[in-house]
Formats: sequence, C-alpha cells, structure tokens
Amino acid sequence: MKNLKKMSLLLLALLLVSCSKGDFKEAKTFAGGKVVSASTLNLGQTTYTEYCVSCHGVKGDGNGISAKGMYPPPRNFKLGVYKFANVVGGELPHDEDLARIIRGGLKGSAMLPWDIGDERLDAVIQYIKTFAPETWEGKDKVLGTKFELPVDPFGDVYRHQAIEKGKKVYHITAACTQCHRGYESKENISKFNMEINKAPLKDEEFAADLFQVKPQDGEFNYKVVPPDFTHHELRSITDVPSIVTRLMYGVNGSGMPGWKDVVTDEELWALAYYVQSLRDLKDSPARFELIEKAK
Ligand code: HEC
Ligand code: HEC
Repeated sequence: MKNLKKMSLLLLALLLVSCSKGDFKEAKTFAGGKVVSASTLNLGQTTYTEYCVSCHGVKGDGNGISAKGMYPPPRNFKLGVYKFANVVGGELPHDEDLARIIRGGLKGSAMLPWDIGDERLDAVIQYIKTFAPETWEGKDKVLGTKFELPVDPFGDVYRHQAIEKGKKVYHITAACTQCHRGYESKENISKFNMEINKAPLKDEEFAADLFQVKPQDGEFNYKVVPPDFTHHELRSITDVPSIVTRLMYGVNGSGMPGWKDVVTDEELWALAYYVQSLRDLKDSPARFELIEKAK
C-alpha cells in the first residue's frame, strides 16, 4: 500500500515534468530581485507567440512578419531600451510601467492595447526581459527611479494663465522648438524673449526650421519624429498630469530629454497645460489659423 502511494507520487512527478512545455527549465532572477519561475516564463513565451510575435519577432528584435514598412517600427527588445516607462531616462522600467504600456497601447502606433488576463500579462512582461539578458538578469540589477507628481499650482481655474506661461517656457526658456515646431509668430516669440531675457530677437536669430518638426536620430536605428501636438497622436498621453509625467522623464532613447529640475515644477505644469491646449485644437479651424500665423 505504502509503495503504491510512493509509486503514484513518482508517476505524478514524472507526468508534471514531461507536461511542462517550453524552452525554460529554470527560474530566473531579474532586476529588482524578482525571481520568476520557469513555468511563468514558459507561459510568457506562449503568450508572446500568440499575441506579439507577428510584430516583435521570434527573436524579439522587432523584425516580425508584420513589421515591414511599419512606422514607428516595433520595439527591438534586445536593446533593453524603453521609451515610455515612468522612470529616469535610461533606467529600467518597473513591471507596472510595462503593464500600463501593454494594457493601454501606444496611441498613433501599431502597438494596440492588449486585453490579456493578469497572469498572462505578468508572464509576457517577464518573458520579454529574456531578450535582453545583459540588461535584466542578475540580482545586482536595479529598477529605475520614480518621481512624485508635483502638485498642480494652477488647477482648472488658472488654466488660462498656465497656458500663457507655458507658451513662453516652450518657445524661450526650455526651447522645445529645438526639436518640435514653433506655434507662435516670430513677433510674439520676440516679445516673449523681451519679457524673459530683456532683449528682442532679430530676424537672423530665428532658426530656419523653427516651424518644422526636426526628426531625431535616437538609439533605435530609425529617425524619430517629434510630434506636432495639433496634429499627431501622442503615444503615452491621456490628460494634463500624464503630460507632466512624460515631461519629467522624457522619451528615453528618442532624443527627448527629461525636464525634471531643468525647469521648475510650475513651468512643467505650465508646459503641460500649453501642450494640452495645442492638442485640443486638433482638426479644428482654430488649428489652421494658428498654423497660418506661425510660419
Ligand atoms: C501590430 C504590431 C504589434 C504587436 C502585435 C505588438 N506590438 Fe508592441 N509595439 C509595436 C510598435 C510599433 C511599438 C513601438 C511604438 C513606438 O515606438 O512608438 C511597440 C512597442 C512595444 C513596447 C515598448 C514600449 C516602450 O516604452 O518602449 C513593448 C514593451 C511592447 N511593444 C510589448 C508588446 C507585447 C507584450 C505585445 C503582445 C502582447 C506586443 N507588444 C504586440 C507593435 C506591436
Ligand atoms: C532633443 C529633441 C527634443 C526636445 C528638445 C524636446 N522634445 Fe519632445 N519629443 C522629441 C521626440 C523625438 C519625441 C517623439 C518620441 C517618440 O514618439 O518616440 C517627442 C515627444 C514629445 C511628447 C509626446 C510624448 C508621447 O507620449 O507621445 C511631448 C508631450 C513632448 N515631446 C513635449 C516636449 C516639450 C514640452 C518640450 C520642451 C520642454 C520637448 N518635448 C522638447 C524630441 C524632443
């Protein structure tokens, strides 16, 4: 009787081993000391093969069969570089960041929102880390630094003031027009400079490409186009606070720097309200009026 019990336990164990499909036989330790079992990694692999492989590719290099001619191209996970994580530029995203991106998608790109259950979501997040082992594997690897969202000094009541201030920070103090296009006439921009730097701008001081978007080289092997806020969809933006968040961290690997402590928290919020006001113009006659003046 005892032996029979032992035998059946042994059989059960053998059955379990032979049933666990997939390439992973051992657990892995990722950044932040996260230990992930082989069965989770294998579930991640199946999930990836079902949902993600057509774009991101079998090897995770972004060369899936649907990726040809796609702009922006699917991320190459082998680089271990993530654009829209809410961590200081170049540092590693937390699982919750990757979950937000996968569940929410990246608007204006082929990266759609994926409605997958919690267990598979976690598994696929762990699996994509295995494409960049040098970035992710080992207990010495640390996760990125997060900031608190600063308090909104304007609120809806002072929205107008925020936008007016944001215009000046955008065109002068932070010079976002180094990459993005300008949205004010040269005359107005000169006035802003007068207010801030006590000097008007001469005609020859304006960049020739002030009213154009300036594609950036970045780390991804393709030119990254800075969006025109009155026209393009923004990948990770839903509302004003989400713009503040994006501005704090920047868009890692694409040339868009983080602005936390480069401008003040008040200026961050002013910029965010201003960018939102430009987004609100999308496809409206007011957009064309504005663009008519700013060229
Ligand atoms: C139809 C094509 C397509 C499919 C399918 C797809 N993606 Fe993407 N994915 C993209 C594109 C395109 C980007 C790059 C967007 C950008 O750079 O703005 C991207 C980017 C990403 C990023 C990078 C986010 C960042 O901040 O850099 C992650 C992570 C990601 N995808 C995970 C997944 C996972 C997990 C799946 C499957 C559940 C999946 N994707 C399925 C097209 C796809
Ligand atoms: C050195 C170039 C550069 C500068 C300077 C720059 N940006 Fe960007 N920005 C980019 C690029 C490139 C992208 C597109 C990133 C992508 O989609 O991969 C971008 C994207 C954005 C986005 C959209 C993020 C999203 O989720 O899609 C916002 C908002 C933004 N920039 C605001 C600003 C503001 C405000 C400033 C000035 C404080 C600024 N940027 C300065 C290059 C720049």
